Amino acid sequence: MKNISFSSPDIINEDIQAVIEVIKSGWLIHGKYSKTLEELFCEFTGANYAATVSNCTAGLHLSCLSAGFGKGDEVIIPAQTHTATAHAIEYTGAKPIFADVDTISGNICVDDLESKLTEKTKGIIPVHMAGYPCDMERIKKISINNNLILIEDCAHSIGTTFDNKHVGTFGQAGCFSFYPTKQITTGEGGIVITNEKIFIEKINKLKAFGIDAPPKQRSMPGLYDVKELGYNYRMTDFQAALGVGQMKRYSTNLQIRKKNAKLYCDLLKNEDKILLNNFHDDCSYFLYQIVLSHDVNRDQVLLYLKENGIGVSIHYANPVPLMSYYKNKYGYSKGNFINAEYYSNKNISLPVHAKLSNEDIKYICRVISAALRL
Ligand SMILES: Cc1ncc(COP(=O)(O)O)c(C=O)c1O
Repeated sequence: MKNISFSSPDIINEDIQAVIEVIKSGWLIHGKYSKTLEELFCEFTGANYAATVSNCTAGLHLSCLSAGFGKGDEVIIPAQTHTATAHAIEYTGAKPIFADVDTISGNICVDDLESKLTEKTKGIIPVHMAGYPCDMERIKKISINNNLILIEDCAHSIGTTFDNKHVGTFGQAGCFSFYPTKQITTGEGGIVITNEKIFIEKINKLKAFGIDAPPKQRSMPGLYDVKELGYNYRMTDFQAALGVGQMKRYSTNLQIRKKNAKLYCDLLKNEDKILLNNFHDDCSYFLYQIVLSHDVNRDQVLLYLKENGIGVSIHYANPVPLMSYYKNKYGYSKGNFINAEYYSNKNISLPVHAKLSNEDIKYICRVISAALRL
């Protein structure tokens, strides 16, 4: 039987050597690799500025703080996302307002987003689910017309574009994740991009306790002032060293992911029990997600795939407003987010990483077809 892993990071010996070099140097934080990773990320995305952070959740939190979200404010996000998107808003005292999603892409439904706008709305955080771009033309227009802050949750979307522009650059900030299953990993880790100098200055200060001068800018070692309540959300330099090589090779990795996704689309397009996104060259394919038709038992299919040696997952098994914390706090109940609930019950995330062979994908599709006929 095959044994196909769900994800497989692109880490080679040179990356490991770079990590060892940092550890031996003694500069475990504040070293050169964090800056290099930021420069490479700016080059890749076209953003003016980037700041590495300890994870994407921290990046979202810092972005919400830098945007000035706080008590009494509302920020609109999709109901179907990782809980981190909502948590980042909650941490600031603002209230996440959930909008329903599109059943096939899992992305925020823009009509529902519009219906949730109120006098208290201060921002929007769309999520590019599995790397599939949201309709940034409409979302950007809504944010401009209503004077809202736009922060993109790009945890899934290194390499995703919309109208030839990298996501994360449409509003004030974009936050990316380097968690191990992501397209690039530093273990834990993330990066915030922005085109606004003031925004990046706030992020850089808040990610390091609110200290006014980083070590290399101090007139005397240890001499600094703290003018605001910051956090410790920095990435270590050995994590950044792990990311640098992956970032340099990423364009190739992305092309292989797209080739794999295209093969899935071709092989599954005639399965009438699968609701499928067409192949989309702007998508960075963090995952290859399928959504099953209403008459299929998703969990049975999922187990069958596992039994046949295929690493699979679900993103995500419950819409965030139906998780106990949000349900109890804001009084949501089943039936409030029809599409997100359908998506959470019927989605399956398949491996699409660059180490898969065409034979692996053909095998996975054969197993899916068999599972749909059980
Ligand atoms: C959509 C989304 N946003 C944010 C996060 C948080 O990322 P991190 O684990 O880097 O904090 C995740 C995690 O996978 C995610 O899927």
